Amino acid sequence: MKKGGTIFFCQSCGYESAKWSGQCPACRQWNTFAEEPAPKKSRGGPAPARRSGEARSGPVCLAEVASGERERISTGMKELDQVLGGGIVPGSLVLVGGDPGIGKSTLLLQVCRNLSDRLSGVLYISGEESLQQIKLRALRIGEFRESLKLMCETNLADIEEVVLREKPQVAIIDSIQTMYQEEISSAPGSVSQVREATGVLMRLAKEQGITIFIVGHVTKEGTVAGPRVLEHMVDTVLYFEGDRHASYRILRGVKNRFGSTNEIGVFEMQESGLKEVANPSEYMLNGKPEGASGSVVACTMEGTRPMLLEVQALVCRTNFGLPRRTAAGMDFNRVNLLLAVLEKRLNLPFSSYDAYVNIAGGLRLNEPAMDLALVLAMISSYKDIPVSGKTVVFGEVGLSGEVRAVSMARQRVQEAKKLGFTKVLLPQSSMEQVKAVTGIELVGVAAVRDALRIIG
Ligand code: TYD
Ligand code: MG
Repeated sequence: MKKGGTIFFCQSCGYESAKWSGQCPACRQWNTFAEEPAPKKSRGGPAPARRSGEARSGPVCLAEVASGERERISTGMKELDQVLGGGIVPGSLVLVGGDPGIGKSTLLLQVCRNLSDRLSGVLYISGEESLQQIKLRALRIGEFRESLKLMCETNLADIEEVVLREKPQVAIIDSIQTMYQEEISSAPGSVSQVREATGVLMRLAKEQGITIFIVGHVTKEGTVAGPRVLEHMVDTVLYFEGDRHASYRILRGVKNRFGSTNEIGVFEMQESGLKEVANPSEYMLNGKPEGASGSVVACTMEGTRPMLLEVQALVCRTNFGLPRRTAAGMDFNRVNLLLAVLEKRLNLPFSSYDAYVNIAGGLRLNEPAMDLALVLAMISSYKDIPVSGKTVVFGEVGLSGEVRAVSMARQRVQEAKKLGFTKVLLPQSSMEQVKAVTGIELVGVAAVRDALRIIG
């Protein structure tokens, strides 16, 4: 690389290259390379936080290290606490990513409101909205304590100065893509700016013991650097997902140095901000049609949480040589594969039928345990025979049409029972695990053929 020259960055994943290329070799995105001034080399990242009195270098025995299980601070939202692994860890850096307009600012402002009841210093720094705009949003959300401080600023040096002076316990940076450092000549939102800004914030968090939440917009066009660029730098990465047209939102942990990443939080966007959804299954099944063919209730696991949802399929004769297939909310190739299994093992003529499948509610799932429900939904639509609305189905389908065991069968059955379902169709090999559950009819199936007999 030339001295003082420029370098090309993939704006999606942060891959560096001396030359421009059309496709990023790392993340395979097209047209994401942008030219930026080369960053100065040989800068170490900030050291992880040390307690005073700890040696500054040299190895120590693991046994000598104080466990320092610090108290976690509750955010006042159970769903969020769960995703964080039990609450906020002091001195951690949390990235909240998501599409623009999904509700990141709203969520964090609500967190600020809850925290300012308990903590003395909460600082909300916005680089996107004016104080009046934040005030308007705050009015929709509800009452605020006076201890919440707001600031509109995008210059990171000024932010650092204020944070050092105010010493808040929790600070929010909304959003990282608007922050800039004067020493770096590239525009705010570029990979070098976003990385450097995160480095500064990480140092602040670790050295001062401040919990910092960073908002990062996910961008498809690649005009500003996405949060993936900084995923490896922060302690916790949460993504806020959801269909913009549906009101529910899912907060998913993708990385967590202080807890499991298996947790999700479910929220609903209402007139007065985000509300927690304590029972997502009930919420997801809302509006399920009665007695319609092609609709089957499935049970998926989101981390350790079972969730019931509706799988819909529409199968109809194709008008062209090549059947049309679409899959919303699940893997397209998986749908094709299952159709091929049905064609071969059950002699159903799916190659001359179009198939459209959808997970109601706009969820996206990749769990193989959904296979059986999907298969039944397609057969039900093909034969135009409805599957009972009181039945829950789960199980993986193999290439020979066999139904294979899935994990956590008992939790799934219990969730079905809790929500008043009367029958569960599950893999024969999972029956052993769920024997103890009573009060609900359990039907073990070994092959798709058996399941077919049950729906008629
Ligand atoms: P916002 O938090 O600004 O999104 P982000 O920071 O992720 O870009 O969310 C904005 C959307 O949320 C906007 O479309 C309006 C909607 N909204 C509500 O429906 N109810 C509310 O109480 C608030 C504050 C916002
Ligand atoms: Mg925002």
